[in-house]
Amino acid sequence: MTEGARAGDDVKAAQAAEGAADSPDVRERDVLVRVRGLRKHFPIRSGVTRRRAGAVKAVDGLDFDIREGETLGLVGESGCGKSTTGRMVMRLLEPTEGTIEFGGRDITGLSRGQLRPLRRDFQMIFQDPQSSLNPRHTVGTIVGLPFRLQKVTPEGGIKKAVQELLELVGLSPEHYNRYPHEFSGGQRQRIGIARALALRPKLVVADEPVSALDVSIQAQVVNLLDDLQNEFGLTYLIIAHDLSVVRHTSDRVAVMYLGKIVEIADREDLYSSPKHPYTVALMSAVPVPDPARRETRERILLKGDVPSPMDPPPACRFHTRCWKVQDICKTQEPPLAEITGRHQVACHFPENVPAGEGGAVEVVELVKPGAAADVDAAAAGVAEASVTDVDASGAEAADADAGGPTDVAEPKDTPPTSAP
Ligand SMILES: Nc1ncnc2c1ncn2[C@@H]1O[C@H](COP(=O)(O)OP(=O)(O)O)[C@@H](O)[C@H]1O
Ligand code: SF4
Ligand SMILES: [Mg+2]
Repeated sequence: MTEGARAGDDVKAAQAAEGAADSPDVRERDVLVRVRGLRKHFPIRSGVTRRRAGAVKAVDGLDFDIREGETLGLVGESGCGKSTTGRMVMRLLEPTEGTIEFGGRDITGLSRGQLRPLRRDFQMIFQDPQSSLNPRHTVGTIVGLPFRLQKVTPEGGIKKAVQELLELVGLSPEHYNRYPHEFSGGQRQRIGIARALALRPKLVVADEPVSALDVSIQAQVVNLLDDLQNEFGLTYLIIAHDLSVVRHTSDRVAVMYLGKIVEIADREDLYSSPKHPYTVALMSAVPVPDPARRETRERILLKGDVPSPMDPPPACRFHTRCWKVQDICKTQEPPLAEITGRHQVACHFPENVPAGEGGAVEVVELVKPGAAADVDAAAAGVAEASVTDVDASGAEAADADAGGPTDVAEPKDTPPTSAP
């Protein structure tokens, strides 16, 4: 772990200890979001009659809770259904099946009109700060839009509130009349964050909030999200395509594979004792900045590509790539079951499980890094150092951006591009 990572962890630990006296452990707090049986099947139509020819099973039966004030990290390779999940939680996409409760209220069946007053409580930060901000609008208009949409007049007026928000996210009140193109990618993401926080939401869904940013900027944005969470008691669902980004921000982490959660656990538990073979493989692919550790590190080869979500493998969906596969894996779906403590895993033969606690422990085939050229590239994300080694107060450089929705917070129901 890097210095920055340790510092980040220390801060979290200190905050946890500080808060322990007057607030319950985050794990004991009330559930803010409860998701049950969530599915999204996108129909595929063909021919002139637009006959239904199948479906992309993007999300295929998710159960999870997010407690007040916690950060749940949602991780998995590109195309496994993370964004679809985030957009359903935000009610920007209609689920095919299942329920979403927010603050104890079932919001699944609410109409757009019924949802409008609730929208201020849940906001989204998009992957791409470039296209999620309307280029024709000034920063003042963009960040002030939620007030206008919700017909909220803050004390002192919208302009003052927007300027305070800009300061809050590390920008200057003078930026009020500027346009998005005048900013670097990191600054644009700060504008997106300011807009998301305008109405002081309870839940923020951040879909790959730093993936499109230059690695040198990522730590600053991650640290900003952390600071804002502490200041406003925000609850986060943070989506990422690799384990390194969520490692230092999440209280719990859920790992997705082909539309399903295969493992969910407290962060420490997951990182110290991953149980699903897929999680173990993802973990082994996270780059290690320390050359000495890199030398001794072992990587796991995942054979083959991710199967199509149109026709996922039966029973355990990971069986076509799993080095531990047995006959039962191809015929019986392993349920997502609690193995130890609050650690849930969907596997017939989980790793790191003491004998007698629900799973045969097997020898894992490990491959030395030199031979691991074909390690699943999608699993390898930004280097651990990238989100931890940079001073949060440092100046931002111009950086790269990628695609995303516009600043009217209702993106269209179109196939997203793959995560980087
Ligand atoms: N509107 C859509 N129509 C058809 N397929 C879609 C649509 N949106 C997403 N998909 C498909 O659903 C799967 C999951 O997509 P997504 O949720 O974007 O994954 P992730 O965010 O994990 O990369 C992918 O196969 C994707 O192509
Ligand atoms: S159920 Fe079988 S195939 Fe699936 S992850 Fe576990 S060991 Fe591998
Ligand atoms: Mg996505």
